[in-house]
Amino acid sequence: MTPLRRWLATLPVAAVVLSGWQAAKAPEQPIPYSHRTHIALGLECRNCHTNPDPGEVMGIPKASVCMGCHQTVKKDSPHIQKLATFAQSRREIPWVRVYQIPAYVRFSHREHLATGATCATCHGEVKTRDVLWREANIHMGGCMECHLKNQASNDCSFCHEPK
Ligand code: HEC
Ligand code: HEC
Ligand code: HEC
Ligand code: HEC
Ligand code: HEC
Repeated sequence: MTPLRRWLATLPVAAVVLSGWQAAKAPEQPIPYSHRTHIALGLECRNCHTNPDPGEVMGIPKASVCMGCHQTVKKDSPHIQKLATFAQSRREIPWVRVYQIPAYVRFSHREHLATGATCATCHGEVKTRDVLWREANIHMGGCMECHLKNQASNDCSFCHEPK
């Protein structure tokens, strides 16, 4: 092999190592829910993330939504038994949030989806992920970069309530 070919041959290995390293940054969740597994069943984002009025948040589903299937599916799994306990006691599952911005920043999912942005634009390839980590830059710099590209305002008061 030429040195170039040898180097190229290491690329797929590097990609696997890199994605493993990134996934290692994912917070440990109370229940090992996998987006990849569930999207493969034919579920759509909106089945669980319903974007209730006025449209700012997407929301995270209650355990009762999961139990629609898990009442019967895999009910002997310890993870599903833990899920059932949350559903029975009507307690919120303490999911560790991956994307969160402070309350002093104005942001609306509905307004952004109306501009043609997709989930993947801001959250990466969720549908292929077993675990989620903050893989896209949606901090202030990332917001402003996209606003600049799309001729949307970058006035401080556009995203921050005037005091
Ligand atoms: C069966 C229900 C279900 C479906 C379908 C689903 N999700 Fe989720 N989603 C969850 C649950 C539960 C969590 C919290 C656990 C986690 O972060 O993995 C979550 C978390 C997320 C988060 C992280 C939120 C945060 O800030 O912590 C994003 C982003 C997300 N989902 C995007 C998507 C996208 C995009 C799709 C469609 C491709 C999708 N989800 C489909 C249940 C679902
Ligand atoms: C449309 C039906 C459906 C819904 C709704 C659903 N699941 Fe599942 N879930 C499944 C199926 C089917 C499997 C098994 C997939 C497999 O093994 O290939 C599964 C597997 C799982 C597993 C792995 C269990 C194990 O021990 O192997 C967990 C954990 C899980 N689901 C959590 C959730 C959570 C949390 C929600 C709600 C946010 C949810 N599921 C909503 C159908 C569903
Ligand atoms: C323009 C960027 C952008 C797009 C497009 C986007 N999101 Fe988000 N998402 C965010 C930001 C920013 C947050 C953090 C919001 C906060 O903390 O108030 C977030 C938070 C979330 C959360 C956590 C719960 C919540 O409502 O805060 C979920 C779930 C989520 N997004 C799912 C989705 C899904 C599903 C889609 C596609 C239908 C999507 N997002 C499209 C930027 C985006
Ligand atoms: C994918 C590109 C993109 C990203 C990423 C993005 N925006 Fe936007 N944003 C837009 C576009 C395009 C508009 C529409 C501007 C218009 O209608 O003139 C907009 C509009 C807005 C508006 C005004 C509409 C409303 O919701 O009231 C606010 C506020 C806003 N963005 C805040 C943010 C914040 C905060 C972030 C980061 C957390 C962010 N945006 C990330 C493209 C983006
Ligand atoms: C497109 C949306 C957007 C615009 C425009 C914007 N910001 Fe921000 N700003 C954010 C977000 C999102 C955060 C939350 C921190 C983070 O995730 O980076 C933030 C955080 C901040 C913070 C707190 C930083 C910290 O580390 O705690 C300050 C101060 C701030 N912004 C000042 C400004 C000023 C001054 C301007 C005008 C030059 C401005 N912002 C314009 C989105 C925006």
